[in-house]
Amino acid sequence: MTKTHGFDTLQIHAGTAPDTATGARQVPIYQTTAYVFRDADHAAALFNLAEVGYIYSRLTNPTVGALQNRIAALEGGAGAVCCSSGHAAQIMALFPLMAPGRNVVASTKLYGGTVQQFTNTIRKFGWSAKFVDFDDLAAVKAAIDDDTRAVFCESIANPGGYITDLDAIAKIADAAQIPLIVDNTTATPYLCRPFEHGATLVVHSTTKYLTGNGTVTGGAVVDSGKFDWSATDKFPSLSAPEPAYHGITFHAALGSMAFTFHGIAVGLRDLGMTMNPQGAHYTLMGIETLSLRMQRHVENAVKVATWLENDPRVDYVTYAGLKSSPYYDRVAKICPKGAGGLFTFAVKGGYDACVKLVNGLEIFSHVANLGDTRSLVIHPASTTHRQLSPEKQEAAGAGPNVVRLSIGIEDADDLIADLDQALAKATA
Ligand SMILES: Cc1ncc(COP(=O)(O)O)c(C=O)c1O
Repeated sequence: MTKTHGFDTLQIHAGTAPDTATGARQVPIYQTTAYVFRDADHAAALFNLAEVGYIYSRLTNPTVGALQNRIAALEGGAGAVCCSSGHAAQIMALFPLMAPGRNVVASTKLYGGTVQQFTNTIRKFGWSAKFVDFDDLAAVKAAIDDDTRAVFCESIANPGGYITDLDAIAKIADAAQIPLIVDNTTATPYLCRPFEHGATLVVHSTTKYLTGNGTVTGGAVVDSGKFDWSATDKFPSLSAPEPAYHGITFHAALGSMAFTFHGIAVGLRDLGMTMNPQGAHYTLMGIETLSLRMQRHVENAVKVATWLENDPRVDYVTYAGLKSSPYYDRVAKICPKGAGGLFTFAVKGGYDACVKLVNGLEIFSHVANLGDTRSLVIHPASTTHRQLSPEKQEAAGAGPNVVRLSIGIEDADDLIADLDQALAKATA
Protein backbone atom coordinates (compact mmCIF):
# COMPACT_ATOMS: atom_id res chain seq x y z
CA MET A 1 0.00 0.00 0.00
CA THR A 2 1.30 3.46 -0.83
CA LYS A 3 0.32 6.90 0.35
CA THR A 4 -1.35 7.46 -3.03
CA HIS A 5 -4.14 5.02 -2.18
CA GLY A 6 -7.39 6.48 -0.91
CA PHE A 7 -8.53 6.27 2.72
CA ASP A 8 -11.14 3.58 1.99
CA THR A 9 -8.48 1.37 0.41
CA LEU A 10 -5.94 1.96 3.16
CA GLN A 11 -8.42 1.20 5.96
CA ILE A 12 -8.81 -2.32 4.53
CA HIS A 13 -5.35 -3.09 3.16
CA ALA A 14 -2.67 -0.93 4.79
CA GLY A 15 -0.18 -2.75 6.97
CA THR A 16 -1.35 -6.22 6.03
CA ALA A 17 -0.78 -8.79 3.32
CA PRO A 18 -1.83 -12.41 3.03
CA ASP A 19 -0.01 -14.39 5.74
CA THR A 20 3.34 -15.55 4.33
CA ALA A 21 3.22 -18.91 6.14
CA THR A 22 -0.35 -19.97 5.36
CA GLY A 23 -1.85 -17.55 2.84
CA ALA A 24 -4.55 -16.65 5.36
CA ARG A 25 -6.29 -13.59 3.91
CA GLN A 26 -7.37 -12.13 7.22
CA VAL A 27 -4.69 -11.08 9.70
CA PRO A 28 -4.12 -14.10 11.97
CA ILE A 29 -4.13 -13.68 15.74
CA TYR A 30 -0.51 -14.54 16.59
CA GLN A 31 -1.27 -15.79 20.08
CA THR A 32 2.33 -16.29 21.16
CA THR A 33 4.53 -14.83 23.83
CA ALA A 34 7.92 -15.50 22.24
CA TYR A 35 9.58 -16.18 18.86
CA VAL A 36 12.32 -18.70 18.12
CA PHE A 37 15.63 -17.07 17.14
CA ARG A 38 17.36 -18.54 14.05
CA ASP A 39 20.64 -18.61 15.99
CA ALA A 40 22.61 -16.60 18.57
CA ASP A 41 23.72 -13.98 16.00
CA HIS A 42 20.09 -13.41 14.98
CA ALA A 43 19.10 -12.94 18.62
CA ALA A 44 21.95 -10.46 19.20
CA ALA A 45 21.04 -8.48 16.06
CA LEU A 46 17.42 -8.17 17.21
CA PHE A 47 18.44 -7.01 20.68
CA ASN A 48 20.86 -4.46 19.13
CA LEU A 49 18.07 -3.10 16.86
CA ALA A 50 20.42 -3.97 13.98
CA GLU A 51 17.64 -6.15 12.54
CA VAL A 52 13.88 -5.66 12.87
CA GLY A 53 11.98 -8.72 14.05
CA TYR A 54 10.15 -10.37 16.88
CA ILE A 55 11.61 -11.07 20.31
CA TYR A 56 8.84 -11.12 22.89
CA SER A 57 5.19 -10.00 22.68
CA ARG A 58 5.51 -7.35 25.39
CA LEU A 59 7.49 -5.46 22.69
CA THR A 60 6.34 -6.70 19.29
CA ASN A 61 3.75 -9.08 17.86
CA PRO A 62 2.75 -9.54 14.20
CA THR A 63 -0.98 -8.93 14.77
CA VAL A 64 -0.31 -5.82 16.82
CA GLY A 65 2.32 -4.80 14.24
CA ALA A 66 -0.25 -4.98 11.44
CA LEU A 67 -2.53 -2.66 13.39
CA GLN A 68 0.36 -0.27 14.10
CA ASN A 69 1.17 -0.07 10.39
CA ARG A 70 -2.48 0.45 9.46
CA ILE A 71 -3.03 3.26 11.96
CA ALA A 72 0.25 4.92 10.91
CA ALA A 73 -0.88 4.78 7.26
CA LEU A 74 -4.32 6.24 8.02
CA GLU A 75 -2.81 9.12 10.01
CA GLY A 76 -0.05 9.66 7.40
CA GLY A 77 2.63 9.05 10.05
CA ALA A 78 6.07 7.41 9.95
CA GLY A 79 5.24 4.81 12.59
CA ALA A 80 2.89 3.87 15.41
CA VAL A 81 3.03 1.98 18.69
CA CYS A 82 -0.11 0.33 20.01
CA CYS A 83 -0.71 -0.12 23.70
CA SER A 84 -3.26 -1.35 26.18
CA SER A 85 -5.56 1.69 26.35
CA GLY A 86 -5.91 5.32 25.34
CA HIS A 87 -4.62 6.37 28.74
CA ALA A 88 -1.58 4.14 28.29
CA ALA A 89 -0.98 5.83 24.91
CA GLN A 90 -0.90 9.24 26.60
CA ILE A 91 1.78 8.11 29.07
CA MET A 92 3.68 6.40 26.24
CA ALA A 93 3.62 9.63 24.20
CA LEU A 94 4.92 11.75 27.07
CA PHE A 95 7.44 9.21 28.39
CA PRO A 96 10.35 9.90 25.97
CA LEU A 97 9.82 13.66 26.26
CA MET A 98 9.41 14.26 29.98
CA ALA A 99 11.61 14.05 33.08
CA PRO A 100 11.13 15.17 36.68
CA GLY A 101 10.49 18.92 36.74
CA ARG A 102 9.20 19.06 33.15
CA ASN A 103 5.65 20.05 32.22
CA VAL A 104 3.07 19.67 29.47
CA VAL A 105 0.79 22.56 28.46
CA ALA A 106 -2.67 21.06 28.02
CA SER A 107 -6.07 22.29 26.90
CA THR A 108 -8.78 22.70 29.53
CA LYS A 109 -11.16 21.02 27.06
CA LEU A 110 -10.16 17.39 27.48
CA TYR A 111 -11.71 14.07 28.45
CA GLY A 112 -12.15 14.19 32.25
CA GLY A 113 -9.95 11.13 32.76
CA THR A 114 -7.11 12.90 30.98
CA VAL A 115 -7.52 16.01 33.13
CA GLN A 116 -7.31 13.72 36.18
CA GLN A 117 -4.29 11.79 34.79
CA PHE A 118 -2.46 15.04 34.06
CA THR A 119 -3.48 16.81 37.28
CA ASN A 120 -2.65 14.14 39.83
CA THR A 121 -1.17 10.92 38.49
CA ILE A 122 1.70 12.26 36.38
CA ARG A 123 2.87 14.24 39.43
CA LYS A 124 4.02 10.93 40.87
CA PHE A 125 6.61 10.85 38.03
CA GLY A 126 7.69 14.43 38.85
CA TRP A 127 5.88 15.71 35.72
CA SER A 128 3.15 18.36 35.77
CA ALA A 129 0.54 19.91 33.50
CA LYS A 130 -0.53 23.51 33.02
CA PHE A 131 -4.12 23.78 31.81
CA VAL A 132 -4.97 26.65 29.47
CA ASP A 133 -7.95 27.61 27.31
CA PHE A 134 -6.64 26.72 23.84
CA ASP A 135 -8.99 29.28 22.26
CA ASP A 136 -6.78 31.90 23.96
CA LEU A 137 -3.61 31.65 21.88
CA ALA A 138 -1.76 34.29 23.90
CA ALA A 139 -2.40 32.24 27.06
CA VAL A 140 -1.06 29.08 25.41
CA LYS A 141 2.10 30.94 24.37
CA ALA A 142 2.51 32.44 27.84
CA ALA A 143 2.10 29.07 29.56
CA ILE A 144 5.08 27.53 27.73
CA ASP A 145 8.29 27.85 29.75
CA ASP A 146 11.82 26.42 29.64
CA ASP A 147 10.60 23.19 31.25
CA THR A 148 7.70 22.60 28.86
CA ARG A 149 8.26 19.51 26.73
CA ALA A 150 4.91 19.12 24.96
CA VAL A 151 1.61 20.79 24.12
CA PHE A 152 -1.46 18.54 24.34
CA CYS A 153 -5.03 18.88 23.06
CA GLU A 154 -7.90 16.92 21.52
CA SER A 155 -8.81 17.62 17.87
CA ILE A 156 -12.55 17.31 18.66
CA ALA A 157 -12.78 17.70 22.42
CA ASN A 158 -14.70 15.28 24.62
CA PRO A 159 -17.39 15.92 25.85
CA GLY A 160 -18.48 19.11 24.03
CA GLY A 161 -17.31 18.28 20.52
CA TYR A 162 -15.38 21.59 20.42
CA ILE A 163 -12.83 21.90 17.61
CA THR A 164 -9.25 22.94 18.37
CA ASP A 165 -7.48 25.28 15.93
CA LEU A 166 -4.62 22.82 15.42
CA ASP A 167 -2.73 25.00 12.92
CA ALA A 168 -2.56 27.93 15.34
CA ILE A 169 -1.52 25.74 18.28
CA ALA A 170 1.08 23.89 16.17
CA LYS A 171 2.63 27.21 15.18
CA ILE A 172 3.08 28.13 18.86
CA ALA A 173 4.56 24.71 19.70
CA ASP A 174 6.87 24.95 16.69
CA ALA A 175 8.18 28.34 17.74
CA ALA A 176 8.99 26.88 21.16
CA GLN A 177 10.64 23.83 19.50
CA ILE A 178 8.40 21.39 21.33
CA PRO A 179 6.00 18.80 19.88
CA LEU A 180 2.24 19.18 19.65
CA ILE A 181 0.46 15.98 20.72
CA VAL A 182 -3.11 15.66 19.45
CA ASP A 183 -5.59 13.17 20.87
CA ASN A 184 -7.49 12.31 17.68
CA THR A 185 -9.81 9.75 19.32
CA THR A 186 -13.13 11.48 18.74
CA ALA A 187 -12.34 12.66 15.20
CA THR A 188 -10.44 9.60 13.88
CA PRO A 189 -8.10 10.04 10.90
CA TYR A 190 -11.16 9.91 8.62
CA LEU A 191 -12.44 13.27 9.88
CA CYS A 192 -9.17 14.93 10.95
CA ARG A 193 -5.53 14.43 10.02
CA PRO A 194 -3.56 16.32 12.68
CA PHE A 195 -0.18 15.91 10.92
CA GLU A 196 -1.53 18.01 8.04
CA HIS A 197 -2.12 20.77 10.62
CA GLY A 198 1.39 20.65 12.11
CA ALA A 199 1.05 18.08 14.90
CA THR A 200 4.10 15.95 15.77
CA LEU A 201 2.37 13.09 17.60
CA VAL A 202 -1.16 11.71 17.53
CA VAL A 203 -2.61 9.57 20.30
CA HIS A 204 -5.73 7.42 20.11
CA SER A 205 -8.01 5.53 22.37
CA THR A 206 -8.62 2.75 19.85
CA THR A 207 -11.32 1.63 22.28
CA LYS A 208 -13.64 4.15 20.59
CA TYR A 209 -14.40 4.73 16.90
CA LEU A 210 -11.38 2.86 15.50
CA THR A 211 -12.66 -0.44 16.92
CA GLY A 212 -16.16 0.94 16.73
CA ASN A 213 -18.22 -1.65 18.52
CA GLY A 214 -17.28 -1.44 22.20
CA THR A 215 -15.39 -4.73 22.39
CA VAL A 216 -11.79 -3.97 23.44
CA THR A 217 -9.71 -1.28 25.10
CA GLY A 218 -6.60 -0.14 23.30
CA GLY A 219 -4.49 2.84 22.40
CA ALA A 220 -1.96 4.05 19.85
CA VAL A 221 0.78 6.66 19.59
CA VAL A 222 1.57 7.77 16.04
CA ASP A 223 4.65 9.80 15.11
CA SER A 224 4.75 12.11 12.11
CA GLY A 225 8.48 11.36 11.80
CA LYS A 226 9.11 15.02 11.03
CA PHE A 227 10.17 16.53 14.36
CA ASP A 228 13.88 17.29 14.74
CA TRP A 229 14.57 15.80 18.18
CA SER A 230 18.22 16.85 17.91
CA ALA A 231 17.61 20.55 17.19
CA THR A 232 17.80 21.34 20.93
CA ASP A 233 18.98 19.50 24.03
CA LYS A 234 15.39 19.24 25.30
CA PHE A 235 14.84 15.58 24.35
CA PRO A 236 17.91 13.63 25.50
CA SER A 237 16.09 10.27 25.44
CA LEU A 238 15.97 10.65 21.65
CA SER A 239 18.91 12.91 20.81
CA ALA A 240 21.59 11.67 23.23
CA PRO A 241 22.89 8.22 24.19
CA GLU A 242 19.97 6.49 25.97
CA PRO A 243 21.25 4.65 29.07
CA ALA A 244 17.99 2.67 29.15
CA TYR A 245 18.99 0.98 25.85
CA HIS A 246 22.77 0.40 26.09
CA GLY A 247 23.67 3.92 24.99
CA ILE A 248 22.01 3.96 21.54
CA THR A 249 21.24 7.48 20.25
CA PHE A 250 17.76 6.83 18.84
CA HIS A 251 17.47 9.88 16.58
CA ALA A 252 20.93 9.49 15.04
CA ALA A 253 20.49 5.73 14.57
CA LEU A 254 16.86 5.54 13.45
CA GLY A 255 15.95 8.96 12.00
CA SER A 256 12.23 9.38 11.40
CA MET A 257 11.53 6.10 13.24
CA ALA A 258 13.35 7.20 16.41
CA PHE A 259 10.24 7.95 18.46
CA THR A 260 8.49 4.75 17.38
CA PHE A 261 11.49 2.54 18.11
CA HIS A 262 12.02 4.21 21.49
CA GLY A 263 8.35 3.56 22.26
CA ILE A 264 8.80 -0.15 21.59
CA ALA A 265 12.37 -0.78 22.78
CA VAL A 266 12.16 1.30 25.97
CA GLY A 267 8.50 2.31 26.47
CA LEU A 268 6.78 -1.05 26.01
CA ARG A 269 9.77 -2.98 27.34
CA ASP A 270 9.85 -1.09 30.65
CA LEU A 271 6.30 0.22 31.14
CA GLY A 272 4.68 -2.94 29.76
CA MET A 273 1.46 -1.25 28.57
CA THR A 274 1.18 -3.76 25.74
CA MET A 275 -1.83 -4.38 23.48
CA ASN A 276 -2.77 -8.05 23.24
CA PRO A 277 -3.00 -9.66 19.77
CA GLN A 278 -6.68 -10.56 20.11
CA GLY A 279 -7.51 -6.94 20.92
CA ALA A 280 -5.47 -5.83 17.90
CA HIS A 281 -7.45 -8.24 15.70
CA TYR A 282 -10.81 -6.79 16.80
CA THR A 283 -9.54 -3.29 16.13
CA LEU A 284 -8.25 -4.26 12.68
CA MET A 285 -11.73 -5.63 11.91
CA GLY A 286 -13.33 -2.42 13.11
CA ILE A 287 -11.06 -0.13 11.11
CA GLU A 288 -12.11 -1.82 7.85
CA THR A 289 -15.45 0.04 8.04
CA LEU A 290 -14.25 3.24 9.71
CA SER A 291 -15.09 5.68 6.91
CA LEU A 292 -18.58 4.23 6.40
CA ARG A 293 -19.37 4.40 10.09
CA MET A 294 -17.98 7.92 10.51
CA GLN A 295 -20.10 9.19 7.61
CA ARG A 296 -23.21 7.81 9.28
CA HIS A 297 -22.20 9.05 12.76
CA VAL A 298 -21.85 12.57 11.34
CA GLU A 299 -25.10 12.40 9.31
CA ASN A 300 -27.05 11.23 12.39
CA ALA A 301 -25.35 13.72 14.74
CA VAL A 302 -26.35 16.63 12.48
CA LYS A 303 -30.00 15.44 12.46
CA VAL A 304 -30.19 14.82 16.22
CA ALA A 305 -28.34 18.03 17.18
CA THR A 306 -30.56 20.10 14.86
CA TRP A 307 -33.70 18.57 16.40
CA LEU A 308 -32.46 19.15 19.96
CA GLU A 309 -31.48 22.74 19.21
CA ASN A 310 -35.07 23.50 18.19
CA ASP A 311 -36.63 21.82 21.22
CA PRO A 312 -37.92 24.20 23.94
CA ARG A 313 -36.89 21.78 26.72
CA VAL A 314 -33.23 22.20 25.72
CA ASP A 315 -31.09 25.23 26.69
CA TYR A 316 -28.28 24.76 24.19
CA VAL A 317 -26.47 22.17 22.05
CA THR A 318 -22.68 22.24 21.64
CA TYR A 319 -22.35 20.35 18.34
CA ALA A 320 -19.78 22.15 16.18
CA GLY A 321 -21.63 21.03 13.06
CA LEU A 322 -24.47 23.45 13.87
CA LYS A 323 -24.30 26.93 12.31
CA SER A 324 -24.99 28.39 15.78
CA SER A 325 -21.73 26.91 17.15
CA PRO A 326 -18.78 29.27 17.64
CA TYR A 327 -16.67 26.38 16.33
CA TYR A 328 -18.68 25.96 13.09
CA ASP A 329 -16.12 27.80 10.92
CA ARG A 330 -13.31 25.57 12.20
CA VAL A 331 -15.06 22.41 10.99
CA ALA A 332 -14.29 23.21 7.33
CA LYS A 333 -10.63 23.78 8.16
CA ILE A 334 -9.87 21.09 10.76
CA CYS A 335 -12.34 18.27 10.03
CA PRO A 336 -13.89 18.99 6.63
CA LYS A 337 -15.84 15.70 6.48
CA GLY A 338 -17.83 16.61 9.59
CA ALA A 339 -17.72 17.47 13.27
CA GLY A 340 -17.99 13.87 14.52
CA GLY A 341 -20.71 12.15 16.51
CA LEU A 342 -20.08 13.48 20.01
CA PHE A 343 -21.63 16.52 21.65
CA THR A 344 -23.40 17.74 24.75
CA PHE A 345 -26.67 19.50 25.35
CA ALA A 346 -28.01 21.34 28.37
CA VAL A 347 -31.39 20.31 29.72
CA LYS A 348 -33.72 22.87 31.27
CA GLY A 349 -34.17 21.61 34.82
CA GLY A 350 -30.45 21.10 35.56
CA TYR A 351 -28.88 18.13 37.34
CA ASP A 352 -32.14 16.40 38.35
CA ALA A 353 -33.62 16.60 34.85
CA CYS A 354 -30.37 15.23 33.36
CA VAL A 355 -30.46 12.22 35.67
CA LYS A 356 -34.13 11.55 34.80
CA LEU A 357 -33.36 11.90 31.09
CA VAL A 358 -30.53 9.38 31.27
CA ASN A 359 -32.78 6.96 33.17
CA GLY A 360 -35.62 7.43 30.68
CA LEU A 361 -33.77 6.70 27.43
CA GLU A 362 -34.45 3.31 25.86
CA ILE A 363 -32.32 3.07 22.70
CA PHE A 364 -29.39 5.09 24.05
CA SER A 365 -27.27 2.99 26.44
CA HIS A 366 -26.13 4.64 29.65
CA VAL A 367 -22.42 3.78 29.60
CA ALA A 368 -18.99 5.33 30.16
CA ASN A 369 -17.90 4.96 26.55
CA LEU A 370 -18.17 6.69 23.19
CA GLY A 371 -17.62 5.86 19.55
CA ASP A 372 -19.76 2.70 19.49
CA THR A 373 -22.14 1.77 16.65
CA ARG A 374 -24.82 2.07 19.37
CA SER A 375 -25.94 5.46 20.61
CA LEU A 376 -24.63 6.15 24.09
CA VAL A 377 -25.46 8.68 26.78
CA ILE A 378 -23.82 9.84 29.96
CA HIS A 379 -24.13 12.65 32.48
CA PRO A 380 -20.45 13.73 32.76
CA ALA A 381 -20.79 15.73 36.00
CA SER A 382 -21.87 12.62 37.92
CA THR A 383 -19.54 10.18 36.12
CA THR A 384 -16.58 10.80 33.75
CA HIS A 385 -15.94 14.33 35.04
CA ARG A 386 -17.02 13.65 38.65
CA GLN A 387 -13.45 13.87 40.06
CA LEU A 388 -13.01 17.43 38.72
CA SER A 389 -13.70 20.61 40.64
CA PRO A 390 -16.85 22.54 39.60
CA GLU A 391 -14.58 25.10 37.87
CA LYS A 392 -12.75 22.40 35.88
CA GLN A 393 -16.10 20.76 35.01
CA GLU A 394 -17.37 24.06 33.60
CA ALA A 395 -14.07 24.67 31.73
CA ALA A 396 -14.34 21.20 30.18
CA GLY A 397 -17.97 21.87 29.17
CA ALA A 398 -19.26 19.28 31.64
CA GLY A 399 -21.39 21.31 34.05
CA PRO A 400 -24.23 19.73 36.10
CA ASN A 401 -26.95 20.56 33.51
CA VAL A 402 -25.09 18.88 30.63
CA VAL A 403 -25.68 15.48 29.05
CA ARG A 404 -23.22 13.93 26.58
CA LEU A 405 -24.41 11.95 23.58
CA SER A 406 -22.33 9.67 21.39
CA ILE A 407 -24.55 9.31 18.36
CA GLY A 408 -24.55 5.83 16.84
CA ILE A 409 -25.40 4.58 13.39
CA GLU A 410 -29.02 3.53 14.02
CA ASP A 411 -31.98 5.26 12.29
CA ALA A 412 -31.82 8.94 13.23
CA ASP A 413 -35.62 9.12 13.51
CA ASP A 414 -35.58 6.43 16.19
CA LEU A 415 -32.91 8.28 18.14
CA ILE A 416 -34.92 11.49 17.99
CA ALA A 417 -38.10 9.69 19.13
CA ASP A 418 -36.18 8.17 22.05
CA LEU A 419 -34.85 11.59 23.13
CA ASP A 420 -38.33 13.08 22.74
CA GLN A 421 -39.96 10.59 25.12
CA ALA A 422 -37.11 10.79 27.65
CA LEU A 423 -37.15 14.61 27.62
CA ALA A 424 -40.89 14.46 28.28
CA LYS A 425 -40.27 12.32 31.37
CA ALA A 426 -37.33 14.47 32.50
CA THR A 427 -39.08 17.80 32.28
CA ALA A 428 -42.64 16.76 33.24
C1 LIG B 1 -10.79 11.60 24.06
C2 LIG B 1 -10.34 10.45 24.90
N1 LIG B 1 -9.03 10.20 25.02
C3 LIG B 1 -8.58 9.18 25.77
C4 LIG B 1 -9.44 8.36 26.44
C5 LIG B 1 -8.89 7.23 27.27
O1 LIG B 1 -9.03 6.05 26.54
P1 LIG B 1 -9.12 4.60 27.21
O2 LIG B 1 -10.42 4.53 27.92
O3 LIG B 1 -8.99 3.67 26.06
O4 LIG B 1 -7.97 4.51 28.16
C6 LIG B 1 -10.81 8.57 26.34
C7 LIG B 1 -11.77 7.70 27.06
O5 LIG B 1 -12.95 7.97 27.12
C8 LIG B 1 -11.27 9.65 25.55
O6 LIG B 1 -12.58 9.92 25.43
